[in-house]
This record gives sequence, structure tokens and C-alpha cells, in this order.
Amino acid sequence: MSALFKKGKMGKLKLKNRIVMPPMCMYASCNSGLLKKFHHTHYCARALGGVGLIIVEATAIEPKGRISIHDLGLWQDAQIKKHKIMNKRCHEFGAKMAIQLAHAGRKSGVPTSTPLAPSAIAFSEESPYKMPKAATLKDIQAIKKLFLKAALRAKKANYDAIELHAAHGYLLCEFLSALSNKRKDKYGGSLENRCALIVEIAQSIKEKVKLPLIVRISAHEWMNTGWNLEDSIYLCQELEKVGVDAIHVSAGGNQNIPECMPVLEPLYQCDYAKEIKKNIEIPVIAVGLITTAAQGENLLNEQFCDYVAYGRELLRSPNFVFDAANKADKRELIHKSYMRAYI
Ligand SMILES: Cc1cc2nc3c(=O)[nH]c(=O)nc-3n(C[C@H](O)[C@H](O)[C@H](O)COP(=O)(O)O)c2cc1C
Repeated sequence: MSALFKKGKMGKLKLKNRIVMPPMCMYASCNSGLLKKFHHTHYCARALGGVGLIIVEATAIEPKGRISIHDLGLWQDAQIKKHKIMNKRCHEFGAKMAIQLAHAGRKSGVPTSTPLAPSAIAFSEESPYKMPKAATLKDIQAIKKLFLKAALRAKKANYDAIELHAAHGYLLCEFLSALSNKRKDKYGGSLENRCALIVEIAQSIKEKVKLPLIVRISAHEWMNTGWNLEDSIYLCQELEKVGVDAIHVSAGGNQNIPECMPVLEPLYQCDYAKEIKKNIEIPVIAVGLITTAAQGENLLNEQFCDYVAYGRELLRSPNFVFDAANKADKRELIHKSYMRAYI
């Protein structure tokens, strides 16, 4: 029995296999944040290619929360329709669709706006980064509403699930780390306070949107001080308590210090996923230089995770899943039009 091809569930979300396409910014929109033909083709190709869960790239909840002016956005109702059309097509191929809702915080490279962050600490002195404005309590309330409204739009667009981007040094991740969050109010200081914003956003989405919710975190920021695995376990347990359905375990991105980067070797983040999985009941997605079906099978069988995300591998090979099905003797899962490629 192949572990990769076992059906799965994330809360109420039913998935045909354990293969996830993680969010990957294509920087192929324009200042409107609208989906382009490129996105339709790109995501439908992976749906046709048999991916169980596609998580659409970081999609901004407000224009100044974009990484670049080429990001997707879901900050206004006019942006819903194209997502709905794309989801209908992808659903026809049996993929489930999630969307990653994001705010770039101090890592925004939008030229016309001042980035927002927990504290006025720049990510880097180099362009496109700028000195951010420290969010006021009013700004934080506005951010919470923007995440909720974008999640409601995602529901209207027929997404099956939402992923909150709390990884890689973007706004929600910046709140988590004491190195980027020096606030003295209820959103800074203790670990509990630094986790409050993401937990409150997750709770409100679970209560008011009622869609399966995934949270993507950076399990470690690779500094001696700062956010670490133990903190992540605490956060994941708090997220589980408010009804979050799955945790997507990435790492890094909150510091611009190349010397602190680990060696990027195969499976380099998977131990974090394993430790987190030991401490929560909800499913865990592992990601990071996982490129073969055998690696995925191993990770699932060895209890590192419940789902395996293949990022760049799916950029290279949209039909990676068929290849994996062929190797697993699951030829019935290969789309009939592609069968001759596997004879
Ligand atoms: C082109 C590209 C764009 C990415 N954009 C995002 C993104 O929008 N959101 C996110 O959380 N991670 C993003 N990532 C990180 C991936 O989701 C993934 O975690 C990373 O590539 C490691 O997995 P891999 O080795 O399987 O590619 C991006 C990675 C790539 C290569």
C-alpha cells in the first residue's frame, strides 16, 4: 500500500492523496492583483496532473501587504470571479483548492507604500526593503478584519480551504519573533502575546468563515536567540485549540543574515515537522527539498508528517504525481490520456 496515495482528511476537507503543491508566488499578476491566463493554466496543469491539494500562492489581503506589485490579491470583491472560474476547472480534475492569504509586513517591496510591521525594524537596508511603520493597535484591528474579509472572499470563490501565511518573515511571522517584535502592548513581550495576533485571526476565520484552515509557520528562524522549535510547538498547540485543521511546517525567512542559513540539503526542514507532529493531533504538512516519491513515502511511513509538499519539483514536473503513481503500481491513477507515456 502506497502511503502517498492513501486518501486523507484535514478537518472536513477530504483529499484523494497525500501530495500537496505548496504556495509559490509566480509574480505574474499586475498592479490589479488579478489572476491571469498564466495562473489558470499553471494551477489547472497541476490539478490535471493529479495533485491532491493545491495551495495557491501568497495572495495579499491589502495592496500594501504585497511582496511586489506582481502578487495576487483578494482585497476586493472584483477579484473573486477569476478565482471562482479557476477553481471550477481545477475541481473538475479532482484537486482540492486552498489559497494562502498573506501580508508581507516589513518585507513588502511595493514602491508606493510604507510597509507595516510589529516594530520599526527594517528587514534589510537594501532595496526594495524600507523602514516599516510600527503598527498601532488600530492598525492591528484593521489587519485582523482584512484577513477575515479576504477569507470570506476566498469562500465565495469556492476555495476548499484557507492557508494563513505565518512563515518566512512576513507580517504574522514578524509578530512571533522577539527579534522583530519589540512591542510593549498585548501583542508583544511574552510568547503568548507574540502569538496572539495569529491565534486571534485563526479563531475568527474558523468561527466566521467555517472553512478548513491551515497555518503555515517557520518552525525556526535559525538564530541562537529568537523564534525556535519549542515556541513553534506552543503556537501549534494554541492553534489546534482554536480549531485550526493542519500545520504546514517551513522554516526561516525572518532574518537577513546569510551566515545563519542552514545547509539546504534534501529534507532539511522535515525534522521540525516530525517534532511538531509528535505534539499535536491535527495533520502536519512537511516541505523543503523533497523531490522524489520514495522520500515522500518514507516521510509518511516514518511519521514525520501526514502530507508531503513538493514545491519546485512540481514546477519542473507538473505530472510528477503520475510518475509516482506508476512507481507505486497505481497505474489506475494516471490520467488515461497520459497512459501511453508509462508503457
Ligand atoms: C518560486 C517560489 C515561490 C514561492 N512562494 C511562496 C509563497 O507564495 N508562499 C510561501 O509560503 N512559500 C513560498 N515559497 C516556498 C515554497 O512553498 C516551499 O516551501 C519551498 O520552495 C521549499 O520547498 P521545495 O524544496 O519543495 O521547493 C516559494 C518558493 C518558490 C521556489
